Amino acid sequence: MEKTYLMVKPDGVRRQLVGKLVQRFEDKGFQLIAAKMFRMTREQAEYHYEEHKDKPFFGELVEFITSGSVFGMVWQGENIVALSRAMMGKTNPLDAAPGTIRGDYALNTGNNIIHGSDSPQSAEREISNFFRPEELAAGDYPVRMPGS
Ligand code: TYD
Ligand code: MG
Repeated sequence: MEKTYLMVKPDGVRRQLVGKLVQRFEDKGFQLIAAKMFRMTREQAEYHYEEHKDKPFFGELVEFITSGSVFGMVWQGENIVALSRAMMGKTNPLDAAPGTIRGDYALNTGNNIIHGSDSPQSAEREISNFFRPEELAAGDYPVRMPGS
């Protein structure tokens, strides 16, 4: 089953959006298989955003993501990488459609509430940065979905 790493960023945690965001993904039909509130180390942050290490915003990004607690989650479900990215909306909230998470809750790119892996390969890499394999409750599923 496809997995992804979703994470409420420090701005989302500070604004107490964790419950609402978890609810959206549960309502969609995805399965939560691991979650924790934690403060990312600088090393974890630099590894997580490694693809952006030469970008001008990298320093600020690492500062921001380590500025407070995040709520990291592993979810699974059919096509979850693409579908969860669609639910998040575009990176820049100016481009994110109303009804998406960033469209509904975010004002600017620096504070865009949520992270989601951009491919199954990225998901595997990101999950392993924050979770040990035995922390994943994959054995508790699948559940029966309405209509299935
Ligand atoms: P990116 O991986 O391009 O976006 P996404 O989170 O949608 O996968 O960028 C990672 C984060 O870096 C993004 O969520 C916010 C931050 N960022 C900036 O601060 N400025 C920028 O110009 C970009 C592209 C991203
Ligand atoms: Mg990205």
